[in-house]
Amino acid sequence: TYIVNDACIACKYTDCVEVCPVDCFYEGENMLVIHPDECIDCGVCEPECPAEAIKPDTEPGAEEWVDFNRKYAEKWPVIITKKDPLPNAEERDGEDGKLEKYFS
Ligand code: SF4
Ligand code: F3S
Repeated sequence: TYIVNDACIACKYTDCVEVCPVDCFYEGENMLVIHPDECIDCGVCEPECPAEAIKPDTEPGAEEWVDFNRKYAEKWPVIITKKDPLPNAEERDGEDGKLEKYFS
């Protein structure tokens, strides 16, 4: 599977949802997640994310993000249409510690 990590938080560009062939992105207040059981591993979303928040689960440290993505994908509504990024997306892009600072 692929996962969304904390680089998405406070940016939420949503370019990713436009390309996913199985509509497996789910939307929270300030980030999206991928449902790991629905993702078919096609990889087309990874290069679409301006924040580089989408990674394959084969990357180091991805395991905790798989659990995180599954947990919230089961709670949040699906998103299939691109929308405007969050208001401070450009300033927040690349910032460290986003999970602690902005996730809600
Ligand atoms: Fe969707 Fe493919 Fe990205 Fe998985 S890897 S979330 S199936 S676009
Ligand atoms: Fe987030 Fe990147 Fe999609 S910032 S909403 S994973 S395009």
